[in-house]
Amino acid sequence: MKVTLVAGARPNFMKIAPIIHEIKRIQKLGKKITFRLVHTGQHYDEKLSHSFFKQLNIPEPDVNLGVGSGSHAEQTANIMVKFEKELMANRPDIVLVVGDVNSTMACSISAKKLNIDVAHVEGGIRSRDMEMPEEINRLVTDSIADYFFTTSELANKNLRKEGHSDKKLFFVGNTMIDTLKANLSKLKKPVFFDEYKLKPKKYLVVTLHRPSNVDDADNLKMLLKTLEETSKDYKIVFPVHPRTQKNLKQIKLSDKFIITDPLSYLEFIYLVKNSFAVITDSGGIQEETTVMKIPCVTLRKNTERPETVTEGTNILAGIDTYKFKPYFQKLFSGKWKKGGIPKFWDGKTSPRIVKQLLTIYKNK
Ligand code: UD1
Repeated sequence: MKVTLVAGARPNFMKIAPIIHEIKRIQKLGKKITFRLVHTGQHYDEKLSHSFFKQLNIPEPDVNLGVGSGSHAEQTANIMVKFEKELMANRPDIVLVVGDVNSTMACSISAKKLNIDVAHVEGGIRSRDMEMPEEINRLVTDSIADYFFTTSELANKNLRKEGHSDKKLFFVGNTMIDTLKANLSKLKKPVFFDEYKLKPKKYLVVTLHRPSNVDDADNLKMLLKTLEETSKDYKIVFPVHPRTQKNLKQIKLSDKFIITDPLSYLEFIYLVKNSFAVITDSGGIQEETTVMKIPCVTLRKNTERPETVTEGTNILAGIDTYKFKPYFQKLFSGKWKKGGIPKFWDGKTSPRIVKQLLTIYKNK
C-alpha cells in the first residue's frame, strides 16, 4: 500500500509524526506499506517548521512544495497546482491529510480530482463559524474525503448528518495526544525560564494568532491590559506568532510580560505543563491543556473541540475584550474545574489509524 502523507503548517506536524512512526514500526514487522511525505511549505520558518521535524523525529520530507505565504486563494491555488504534479509523478493508493489548514483542503482537492482516495485525520469537527478559514477547510475537505479518522463521537455524528456512511467513519482518538504522551519525558526547559526566574505554577502562558484577537491593535492592547490588571503577581509568558508581531510592537507592555519568539515543541509543552493556566485562541492547545489538566481560557466565540469544555479544563470566554474580566478573575480565584480526559485520547491513536488503513486497502 502506498500512502502520501501531507503536512503543511505547524499544527500538522504533531499530528503526522506518530502516524509516520507507526508506519515505520510495522514496516519492520514485514507489512507492505510505504509512504511519501509531502511538506507543502505553508510554514517555512525554522521556528514554525524545521524545529518540529527535528524534535519529533519526522524524516526529511520526500518533497517540499515550497509554497510559502500569500492570500488564502494564492496559497491554496499554489498548493493545488504543485501537489497535482507531485501526485502525477508519484501516484499513491491513498492521500492522508490531517487537521484543518489550507494545505489540508488544497491537497484533498488535488487528490480527488485525480480520483485518488483521501483519508482525513481529525475529520468531522465543526465550529459552525464560517468566518474561520479553518471551518471552510474542514467542510470542503470532509465533503470530498473518502475516510475519516475522528477524535470524538460528536465528529462522527456531524459526518453522519452530512450524509457520510458509517462504514467510512473511524472514531480513533487524537494523534496530537499520541505526540504529547510520547514526549512528556523529553521536555526541554526554555533558556529564559531561569533567566526570568520563573517558578512552576506562578506564571501564565498566552498564545494569540486569530485575526479576531490580533489584527486590530486597539483590541489586542485592551485584551493584554485586562490580563495585566487581573493577573495578580503572576508573570505572563507570550510566545508570539509572526502574524501577531506587527501589532504587538506598537503596544507598551509592563515587565510582567515575557515576550518570546515561537517556541519549539518540547519547550512549549514544558512551559504549558508547568504553568498556572493558559490563555489562548489556538485549537490544539485546548486539547493539550485538557490532557495535562492545566486550566485553559479560550478567547473565541466557539470551539470545534467542545469536549475540551464539557469534559476537560477549557472554557470559552468569547472575543469581546470588555467581557474577559470575570473569566480571568475566576481563573485567579484558584477554583477551576479538574476535568477528565476524552475517550481514546490515550496516546494509541496512530496504531488504530494505520491498522484501519491496511484493512481498507485489503478490502478494496
Ligand atoms: C495557520 C493555519 C491555522 C493554524 C496556524 C498555526 C490556515 C488557514 N491557518 O495560520 O489554522 O492555527 O497556522 O500557526 O491554514 N509566516 C511566517 N513564517 C512562516 C509562516 C507564516 O512568518 O513560516 C507569517 C507570514 O507573514 C504569513 C502569516 O504568518 O502571511 C500567516 O501564515 P499562514 O500560513 O497564512 O497562516 P497562520 O496564521 O500561520
